[in-house]
Parts: sequence; structure tokens; C-alpha cells
Amino acid sequence: MNAVITGVGGYVPEYVLTNRELSQMMDTTDEWITTRVGIKERRILKDENLATSHLGVKAVEDLLSKTGTKPEDIELLICGTSTPDHIFPSCASTIADRVGIKNAMAYDLQAACSGFVFGLSTAATAIESRRYKKIVVIGAEKMSSIINYNDRTTAPLFGDGAGAVLVEPTTENVGVMDFIMRTNGAGGKHLQLKAGGSAMPASHQTVDENLHTIYQEGRAVFKNAVSEMSEVSAEIMRKNSLKSEDINWLIPHQANLRIIDATVQRTGVSYDKVVVNIEKYGNTSGASIPLCLWDMEKNFKKGDNIILTAFGAGFNWGAIYLKWGY
Ligand code: UT7
Repeated sequence: MNAVITGVGGYVPEYVLTNRELSQMMDTTDEWITTRVGIKERRILKDENLATSHLGVKAVEDLLSKTGTKPEDIELLICGTSTPDHIFPSCASTIADRVGIKNAMAYDLQAACSGFVFGLSTAATAIESRRYKKIVVIGAEKMSSIINYNDRTTAPLFGDGAGAVLVEPTTENVGVMDFIMRTNGAGGKHLQLKAGGSAMPASHQTVDENLHTIYQEGRAVFKNAVSEMSEVSAEIMRKNSLKSEDINWLIPHQANLRIIDATVQRTGVSYDKVVVNIEKYGNTSGASIPLCLWDMEKNFKKGDNIILTAFGAGFNWGAIYLKWGY
């Protein structure tokens, strides 16, 4: 029994924040962002009354309507997010309520940019246990809610969006074939949201010092992302006797085109098989891989060998080998 993705939904907000507009807001240029990161524009959820759940709801509604699935048939909903509407209740429970998912366990999974791949691995294990038959895995982020738009080292990098997949059992030789997931908590200090949790609850001081927005030591994160994403992708290929020419699609987390390039070189997969949409969405953290699936779904064929790989705060990273199911 395998777990297979049987549908993909997605949503990005309408507002397009271009490099040009950013360069009017802070000391940066289109040239710097394009050459150092590969981003041209990103989507921003402008309405301050709307949160991450709004993006998740839109993606799940798209998924349910495309697959003809009744919300009451969903048994498990996992939402990978670092920008939940609240610390509690979970974003997953809000999304479930708004789309009519009433017969499910729903929870958030906090693994930053690896939230979706951690969620899909968890869903695959739940399907293989034979306890669950219909699972929704979401990656949803309103990254703009944790950005300091005075900080040129982080503000250009991130965007908002959500993607969702339906995961079901199959007896065919398709679906999630293998995964490798890893965590190294020692890396936590390099990429974090310092305040707002129990270690440093919100106070006037935390607001004054901008501690509720992303803190990132870019170079340290870059170095680790390059080595771990490349290595785990190569490892899952080795483990499953996959050569570069066996891979139909490589779908890396969209944080930096230079990190993607390093992964491509390490795996030997040719560039025309690499899914890249960073130029139009930026880094949407947990939403980046499901948004790639959403963008590329029409190009996939049943049986295609696909590698998903992500790296993010924690540090958390991993790779999934799947055979596309439809
Ligand atoms: O998604 C989860 C994990 N996150 C990541 O994977 C992100 C990993 N890190 C990165 O992608 C890169 O480290 C960044 C894109 C964040 C930064 O790129 P970099 O090539 O590592 O640049 P840097 O931090 O070494 O900075 C180089 C220069 C500095 O100027 P000086 O000190 O050399 O004069 C920065 O101040 O670039 C400057 N700089 C900028 N210049 C124009 C930094 N940000 C900007 C900017 N515009 N937006």
C-alpha cells in the first residue's frame, strides 16, 4: 500500500510586489535581487484583516473542487506553516472550519520551509498504517506578516501563498516511494523569530527592537542549505538506485536560485527537469513546493519520477521520492 497525491490546489494573492517597488522602499536594486537570489516579484496578501488561513482556505477549496472531494470525507488535515493566524488555535483548525472539514484531526506542523515535505511524509506514514484514507496536506504562509520592510537583507526574499494536496492510498506502483527527513536543532540560532513565544513573550521592548520579524544570518543558512539539500537529494537517489537520467522532475524549495543550482549540480539532473518559480513568487517557505506542484501539475505524467527537497529553519530538511499518480 502506497500513499499517492491525487490532486493539487493552490492560491496566491493578487498583489504583485516587484523588485522595482521594493527598491523605492529600501536600499536595494532589481539587479542585486535578481543576480543574488533569482526573484523578480512576489505576491503579498495586502488586506490586513486576512491571515494565513485565508490563503489555506483558498488552496483547499481549489483542491476539493478539482478532485470532486466532499470536505466531510477528509480524515486528517496537516497545515505546514510558520505564520499561523495565532499561536493557538491552529491554522489547520480554522481552515477545516471554513471549508467544512468536520470529521478530521487537524493540526499545524511547524518545520518552517520544510513544513510541506515533513507534512507529506507524515501523511504517507498515516496512509501506510491503513488508519487514514483521505488526507489533506497544506503549505500556507503569510510571510509578509513577519517581514521587517526596513531590512533589505530579508524583505526582498519572501512572499505569500498556499498550496495543498490530497493524499490517498493506492495499490499501484505510484506515490510516495521513499523519504529522508532530518533535523539539526543546533542550527536554530541562525534563522528565527526571536520574540512572541514562551522564551520571549511580546512586550513593548520586543516591538521596539523589531524582534517579531525574521532574523536570518544569510550566509550560514545559505551554506547549510546548499550542503544538506544537495546531499539529501543525492542520498535518496542512491538509496533508490536512481540515476540522474531516471529523474523526470526535481522540485527544490525556492529560497535562492544559487542554492537550487548547487542541488542541480550535485544530483546531475538536467536543468530542463528542474521546477523553478522563484522569480514570480519568491520564497513562500512551506508553500513553495506545493506551489511548484500546482504550477506544473499539467506537465506531469503518471509514473514520472519526482524528487522533492527542502531546507529551512530548525534546521529542518529532507527529500521525498515520489512517482506521480495521474
Ligand atoms: O528558506 C529557508 C532558508 N533561507 C535560505 O535558504 C536563505 C539563504 N541565504 C541566502 O539566500 C543568501 O545568503 C541571501 C540572499 C540572504 C544573501 O545573499 P548573500 O550572497 O549571502 O549576500 P551577503 O549576506 O553576503 O551580503 C553581500 C552584500 C552585503 O554588502 P557588503 O557587506 O558586502 O558591503 C550586504 O549588505 O550584499 C548586501 N546586501 C544587499 N545589497 C542590495 C544584502 N541584501 C541586499 C539587498 N540589496 N537586498
